[in-house]
Amino acid sequence: MENFVAYNPTKLHFGKDVLNDLGNTVEPYGKKVLLIYGRGSIKRNGIYQKVISQLKSIQATVFEYSGIRPNPVIEDVDAAAELGRKHQVDLVLAVGGGSVIDSAKIISITIPVQTSGWDFYNGTIKPKTAISLITVLTLAATGSEMNPFAVVQNNSTKEKLGWGNDLLYPRHSFLDPQNTFSVPKDYTAYGIADLMAHCLEAYFGEGEAPLSDRFVYAIMKEAIIYGPPLLDDLENYSLRANIMYAATAALNKLTMYGRVSGDWGVHSAGHVLSLLYDIPHGASLSIIYPAWLKLQRERIPERITTLGKNIFGVNNPDDTIKSFESFFHRIDCPISLSAFGIGADKKEDIMKVMIHNNVTGNHHKLTREDYSRLIDLFI
Ligand code: NZQ
Ligand code: ZN
Repeated sequence: MENFVAYNPTKLHFGKDVLNDLGNTVEPYGKKVLLIYGRGSIKRNGIYQKVISQLKSIQATVFEYSGIRPNPVIEDVDAAAELGRKHQVDLVLAVGGGSVIDSAKIISITIPVQTSGWDFYNGTIKPKTAISLITVLTLAATGSEMNPFAVVQNNSTKEKLGWGNDLLYPRHSFLDPQNTFSVPKDYTAYGIADLMAHCLEAYFGEGEAPLSDRFVYAIMKEAIIYGPPLLDDLENYSLRANIMYAATAALNKLTMYGRVSGDWGVHSAGHVLSLLYDIPHGASLSIIYPAWLKLQRERIPERITTLGKNIFGVNNPDDTIKSFESFFHRIDCPISLSAFGIGADKKEDIMKVMIHNNVTGNHHKLTREDYSRLIDLFI
């Protein structure tokens, strides 16, 4: 096992009606709030009204930036940061899924500087301070609510990049499973695929960490047991709660302690599909992971088999890969790009952007030849 530092400063408020504590939690941070949200789901499901009434109860002044899109873009981050700077806000409050929370994270470090948030991604500047961030999670998937990572897309440089810094941990995150009842079936399934992929990225990372492996098995089993029934019963509180907690645990570092790193090759390839074709993040992962496992099948058969034994009760790499394919099929997640009407004629385009984004993986590094084989396996 590698040496490690365990650190996670986010206070998680989990369960039924936890939003009742939002106002009191916000108050010590200040009264000028920059509220960030997406394209209107929070107005349709009533979460917006609950948040506003909590903020009113402490006489907060609220500045709103809405319209954050799935696969969020840097232009929104910069425009929201400008708004926050102009009004000298005390606090950023993100209400939404990973796209909203990731944007809010970068907004919170961009407000104090006179530049684009993209400069943190290209390494031009390092953050020294952040406006406090509180989140209200509405979609179980990314783990962003309790981690220091943020993924943002830059269409002008054709990059979708993840980046992490301790200043990006939210101070508080509110997770009421009831707030995910309205997530449609497809995005519920993509969230399950995403949490499984986070476990896989940890598991296929570098370094031996048996307890962290067992956390991976346990979290993936939650998804396997509770994911399929949830898709037939979207307003079932305990199923939503089990998946929501599993998604947070899948990427709050619990599965990483004692490893050198996670792998993250499939995620970086998935970002290329989102960048090119606006494919939802979780769907990009269910498309690429089975292909990646097939590519690695001859290289790491024991590691793949151990995983299959522990989560599906199978005894060889091929059955492990088949089990993943049939699980994704069961939850209606695509395992081929053809599900989005994209065919082999796009192989060169995908290759080019993979090269440009330097898709690789920290442990099982992908070569240019691998790109070609990988694309053939999922296109
Ligand atoms: O636009 P809104 O109204 O917010 O609607 C969203 C969006 O259309 C909708 N939605 C969210 N909550 C809902 C709801 N609809 C009905 N009821 C609700 N309660 O769902 C759609 C997708 O939302 P989005 O935030 O894009 O989904 P997700 O949480 O999957 O986030 C994806 C983004 O997170 C990044 C991905 O790359 C992608 O950009 N990731 C962030 C990570 C991190 N910070 O650690 C790690 C992940 O691997 C991932 O890369
Ligand atoms: Zn992910």
